[in-house]
Amino acid sequence: AQVDKAGHKHFMAKEIAEQPRVLAAALGHYLTPEGRIALPEPCIDFTAIDRLTLVACGTAFYACNVAKYWFEQVARLPVEIDVASEFRYREPPMPARSAALFVSQSGETADTLAALRYAKGQGAQILSVVNVTESSIARDSDIALPILAGAEIGVASTKAFTCQLLVLGALALEAARQRGTIDEATLAAHLQGLRALPGLIDQGLSIEAECQRVSRGLAEARDILFLGRGRMYPLALEGALKLKEISYIHAEAYASGELKHGPIALVDEHVPVIVMAPHDELFDKTVSNMQEVMARGGKVLLITDTKGARIAGDGTWEVITLPEIDPLWAPILYAVPAQLLAYHTAVAKGTDVDQPRNLAKSVTVE
Ligand code: G6P
Repeated sequence: AQVDKAGHKHFMAKEIAEQPRVLAAALGHYLTPEGRIALPEPCIDFTAIDRLTLVACGTAFYACNVAKYWFEQVARLPVEIDVASEFRYREPPMPARSAALFVSQSGETADTLAALRYAKGQGAQILSVVNVTESSIARDSDIALPILAGAEIGVASTKAFTCQLLVLGALALEAARQRGTIDEATLAAHLQGLRALPGLIDQGLSIEAECQRVSRGLAEARDILFLGRGRMYPLALEGALKLKEISYIHAEAYASGELKHGPIALVDEHVPVIVMAPHDELFDKTVSNMQEVMARGGKVLLITDTKGARIAGDGTWEVITLPEIDPLWAPILYAVPAQLLAYHTAVAKGTDVDQPRNLAKSVTVE
């Protein structure tokens, strides 16, 4: 079917706005009406594996990075993770009781497909999380899980990322259920948290005007730093990737705790530092890193919730406030400011948002 911009200026803007709807569709596919997890049969037996390998490229790789925290923390399942271009050539040994999961929007990324074939050759069970269900990666998998995001046209991935996270989150909960690492009440609470996502993302989209205003400042910068801790670290990586892809501003992401091991040398009043920090169990640690930045004249944009803003908003350059959310699923909600800041910074700079220079939507050659 012909896909148009439905009144938006760019496909990227349309795809950002579509997220509540496509996430709700994915939820409808992966949860029963009573709110239990419904995975296609036959599904993977998570009690039969001792390790899960996650492999992807680009934004899909950052989705894997978030999922690593989920599988490890909730399902107590050891996770190995790599970008496909490294994984395929480093000849990693794969233990007998292991599965490998490949995440790809297009399902055609050459390195990811080659990595899949390597893992298959090693005898691993092959899972994939794809948007294009008739793709090579889906075809070559034992189990292919669709993300149901609909066609994504903008080169910078947006709705595919949040849908990938949703499917990976449901899968991590299923792994926890099977492995008996989660009690009924906690499982029910996290499932409820997943069900709340379309509504929260919809509310989260109301920060757009603020993101647009802040982006005018970001557009002046030559370098931008992103910081996050725990599950928010991959979001910092995704925020930096998105920004450099479409605005061409140099952006780097660091785990907050690594700040003092190098990047703090870059901090001055010309380098905006974007801190992604919901009020979770690691909030205080991130805030102390943020204060180190401010003590050196750094200009902090804090992205947090109401509680976080109240505790740590003083002295920052800007604060963007998102709704409260189950901290486990915060990475899905915090993708919204990452997308909107990149988008509006690119628009402010007048770059080609949907077709950034030198980039391709699908990289089918090595
Ligand atoms: C390209 C795209 C990215 C994407 C990456 C992986 O670099 O520009 O947006 O994240 O490929 O693509 P895939 O289709 O495998 O998710």
